[in-house]
Amino acid sequence: MTQRTLIVIKPDAVRRGLIGKIITRFEEKGFKILDLKMLTFTRQQAEKFYEPHLGKPFFQDLVNFITSGPVVAAILEAPNAVSVVRLMIGSTRSFEASPGTIRGDFGLGITENVIHASDSEESFKRESAIVFS
Ligand code: CMP
Repeated sequence: MTQRTLIVIKPDAVRRGLIGKIITRFEEKGFKILDLKMLTFTRQQAEKFYEPHLGKPFFQDLVNFITSGPVVAAILEAPNAVSVVRLMIGSTRSFEASPGTIRGDFGLGITENVIHASDSEESFKRESAIVFS
């Protein structure tokens, strides 16, 4: 089943010059890039994007971090895109992410964890509307 998903390369990865390496992984895997842009989240956009985490103790840190610099967002298409991308990015806690995954290879943090990807088709629709509005 061909599916679309959203990735957001976070400000830590952009600052560290990892955009090309991360995009290359998805290209080499076989994803079609349907849309791609660099943007800096406004606070309003960030609060809407992370609304499912509203009220959690790390919410403000998350909003502060994601608005701290430019991100690169892309819409990727492939069969089973949501689950394949989640496998490729690895565990949320980068220090526990398997080597070979993007977080496992490039990160150590939880808030600063290199990349975000939609966890379902519903999240993809909601999140991409915020980022590509
Ligand atoms: P992301 O995939 O962007 O989705 C929600 C984000 O919340 C997650 O990546 C982490 O950056 C962050 N997050 C999740 N759990 C925690 C936590 N326990 N402490 C701090 N940040 C967290």
